[in-house]
Amino acid sequence: MKVILDCDPGHDDAIAIILAASKVSPLDIVGITTVSGNVEVEKNTLNALKVCDIIGLDDVPVVQGAARPMVREPEIAEHIHGETGLDGPNLPKTPKRTATSQHAVDYIIEQLHQSEEPIILVPTGPLTNIALALVKDPSIRTKIKEIVLMGGGTFGNWTPAAEFNIYVDAEAAKVVFESGLPIRMFGLDVTHQALATKETVEQLKEIANPVSEFVAELLVFFMQAYKDYFAFPGGPIHDACTIAHLIDPSIFEFEHIHVAIETKGEHTYGMTVVDRLAVTGQEPNAYFATGLDQGKFWSLFKKALESYSE
Ligand code: BDR
Ligand code: CA
Repeated sequence: MKVILDCDPGHDDAIAIILAASKVSPLDIVGITTVSGNVEVEKNTLNALKVCDIIGLDDVPVVQGAARPMVREPEIAEHIHGETGLDGPNLPKTPKRTATSQHAVDYIIEQLHQSEEPIILVPTGPLTNIALALVKDPSIRTKIKEIVLMGGGTFGNWTPAAEFNIYVDAEAAKVVFESGLPIRMFGLDVTHQALATKETVEQLKEIANPVSEFVAELLVFFMQAYKDYFAFPGGPIHDACTIAHLIDPSIFEFEHIHVAIETKGEHTYGMTVVDRLAVTGQEPNAYFATGLDQGKFWSLFKKALESYSE
């Protein structure tokens, strides 16, 4: 199963990459593309490269993408991810390699055309790169197997109505959700159920390999940010849900429903309007994740981290 991970690492993006590259994963990571989101795109790119260094993912291209949203000014989430976007662990200043010198939008288009089999796009940041690729070359549509994304929900974490990834580039999200392509959506309703706690950190320390220790350090910072900002008892590893689903499709439950993106509302810009009771009569355009099997999710998480000891 070929995937392109389009991300803004980001603590939970980093964990998503780590799960995808683990030995329990059947995923073939074609490339990692970055986008402006949690912090500026240059920092997100550096972080992606550093995560690759830590897990030995040396042959997967990292390609930098959009430096800003399509219409609005960028907004960043330093209060959650820190100034570097990956605060907490003691990371080397410079990664071992540099990013591929191509724009991520062109890279995504090129890889889709070159691949014999359709590719799954996994966006875990704002949807700018994906929307721009669809606008620039609509013929890629036939080569996109599915868009498995983290974003949205029936409540917000950036405004009361809007989740961060969708809010930052709601115009891009509108392009994606109105594309007619198969979409699988992991919004806050389900990602808040994937809550890492102190016990998770203890388990990672017991696994005791360099990758599990790195994830433990990421979680300590991330959980503190969620405690300070949202008074949460843990850290929701939002983006990791996309990969957990791709590794084991029996973990999550979905409803096939219509989701509209609000781009005009005074109080609701960036809201995903999820028609759970089918009151609009519109054709479903997304598989909306509603629940997860805690036992299966955390067992996969643990096995993925243990696989870095082998
Ligand atoms: C999303 O926003 C980012 O801060 C996280 O990486 C995740 O993708 C959660 O709202
Ligand atoms: Ca993210």
